[in-house]
Formats: sequence, C-alpha cells, structure tokens
Amino acid sequence: TLGADRFVPPGAGIERLEEAAETCEGCELHRDATQTVFGDGSATARIALVGEQPGDDEDRSGRPFTGPSGTLLYRALDQAGIDRGECYVTNAVKHFKFAQLQPGGRRIHKTPTRGEVNACRPWLLAELNAVKPELVVVLGATAGQSLMGPEFRISTRRGIIQDLVHDGLAESMKLMGTVHPSAVLRLRESERKEAFAQMLVDLRKAADFLE
Ligand code: URA
Ligand code: SF4
Repeated sequence: TLGADRFVPPGAGIERLEEAAETCEGCELHRDATQTVFGDGSATARIALVGEQPGDDEDRSGRPFTGPSGTLLYRALDQAGIDRGECYVTNAVKHFKFAQLQPGGRRIHKTPTRGEVNACRPWLLAELNAVKPELVVVLGATAGQSLMGPEFRISTRRGIIQDLVHDGLAESMKLMGTVHPSAVLRLRESERKEAFAQMLVDLRKAADFLE
C-alpha cells in the first residue's frame, strides 16, 4: 500500500481535489468499490465532520452520508443548532470496504485497516487544508485515530475540544469527537434514545464553540 500522496495535487482547492481523487489508487479499496466518495458541503465551512468511510448507499450515490447514518447525523446537527449548509462532511477513507458472501448479495460493511486509513489520510489532510475549518468533529474512532493517532478513544475524548496540530496541516485547528451515527443505529431501541441524547450533548458543545 503506497498511499494517496502521489495522487493529491499540492495546494489544490476542493474541486480539483475531488476530481483527482476519482482516479486514486492509493490502496486496494478502489478495486471493488463503485466510486470514490469525496467530501461534500461548504468549501468555506467553519466545521468539518469526518466519518469513517462510505457505506453501501454512499458507494452508489457518490456522496457522503446519504444513507441511514446521514439521516441520523443531520437530525442530530439540526437539533444541536448546527446548520448543515455551513458544514463540510467527509470520511477518513474514501472508498467503501465491504464483504460480499455471494455475487449480487448483500454487501456487508468492513472496518478499514489502519493501513487503509493511513493510505487515505492525505486526502483528508488536503481537504482540511483547503476548507480550513475552525473545528473538526470526528465521528467515531477511525476518524479520530486518523488525525490524532492510534491511542485516540471516543469514550475518553468525546465532547472535549482539543488542539489538532498535524505535520500535514498548514494551520492548527480544533478537534472534537463524538460517536459515529451508525454506532447509535446499531443499538437496541431502548438504548438508542440515550445514545442519541449523548451525541446531542457533544454536538451542542461544538455549536457553542462556533458561536
Ligand atoms: N458512514 C460513514 O462513516 N460515512 C458515510 O458517508 C456514511 C456512513
Ligand atoms: Fe485512494 Fe483512499 Fe480510495 Fe484507498 S480508499 S484508493 S487511498 S481514495
């Protein structure tokens, strides 16, 4: 796995980055996925939200968070008082990773390896350098670890706004973690409400920070 570096046009804006990412072969994941799912939203957003990787819906639509996770995420943003039109939304990994037991059968999400997350990180850093958000909200451990290193845990860092300083970033910014929306969706009905409420507590801190 050589990584995405050689595919990333240096200093490019979001549009040119997205175009270049269409033909990325920085890791094996481009082979089985339908298309690159690049970030979407305001190119001058004050807040960037980073998920794990596209899911089945996103792999087909070509845009991040168009499936059930997105529905939950946008409902949470709305209730936290964050205007989705002022957000940039992306993923740590730009291609869908899945297992398919039979051809034409259901595609089951697989968590990307650390190597795949590392391979794709240049795209994420380039997006952050182009958008220059004030706050990056990482949704789940995969995105958190991509930017903060392998020790990052949502359980201990959620709702805490900290400095994001990275060799690959031209400017420092702030970072906050919360749970991944699909982690909320996976819970039993009885636990889902509380998990969603906790997600709102985190996101309201982000909303307060941006005020
Ligand atoms: N889950 C993610 O992490 N990202 C998406 O875009 C969709 C689902
Ligand atoms: Fe490139 Fe990222 Fe896709 Fe791998 S997952 S091929 S690094 S865009």
